[in-house]
Amino acid sequence: MRILVLSDIHSNLDALEGCLEAAGPHEVVVNLGDIVGYGACPNEVIERSRSLGEYFVRGNHDKAAGGLMDLRDFNPMAGLAALWTREQLTPENLEWLRALPQGPIQIPGASDVQFVHGSPIDEDEYVVTIHDALEPLAVHSVPITFFGHTHLQGAFSFNTTVGDTYRPPYRTVAKSETAEFPLRKGVHYLINPGSVGQPRDGDWRAAFATFDTESRIVTFRRTPYNLKNSQDRILAANLPQRLATRLAAGR
Ligand SMILES: [Fe+2]
Repeated sequence: MRILVLSDIHSNLDALEGCLEAAGPHEVVVNLGDIVGYGACPNEVIERSRSLGEYFVRGNHDKAAGGLMDLRDFNPMAGLAALWTREQLTPENLEWLRALPQGPIQIPGASDVQFVHGSPIDEDEYVVTIHDALEPLAVHSVPITFFGHTHLQGAFSFNTTVGDTYRPPYRTVAKSETAEFPLRKGVHYLINPGSVGQPRDGDWRAAFATFDTESRIVTFRRTPYNLKNSQDRILAANLPQRLATRLAAGR
């Protein structure tokens, strides 16, 4: 089974379409949350995401836009975008967003894999460094965890005593690229597909990943998308200009 893992789309329809064009064959789609927030196409992204499959976990921006979280925990720009998103959502999409499950979730046919937004211990925790990753890697019985939230593509691994960090070694800045990361038996992994709609690792290309449960290979992917269109939509919606400019910098 080939699983397409999408995370942190953040209402960026152009980036989502770019990923789907570049994704190649897959049987299942899992969405790690932050479907909305920051970008200008919340309804379109929700509807497109729902058309892809049924496996979702909620992100903090989904909770914020759905009114399930105190916006005082957000920076002003994120809070403003959450309020704007809530006003835009159709009643059906708002209800759907509010009903999204908290991770971890698992899917049929992949008993050694789980999916979360932040970490398996806390859905809102940021796993940025190997230090952050060690506790969830060590305590959890499910060996492979896909997570999002940080918008940083890569993987952490833990093999009884040794922790390691992997970042995909891309060679270009504007082409579609892949990086294969084979998983080893007996090793625990925390794997971040990166952010579809608002990457923060200095690479503007939309980020996502696929996992083949038979070959045990994670393929990290980056793909260019119609960035200008996405920026124009943000500006036309009167969202903060910085939300458009940061997309070009991947920050
Ligand atoms: Fe996010």
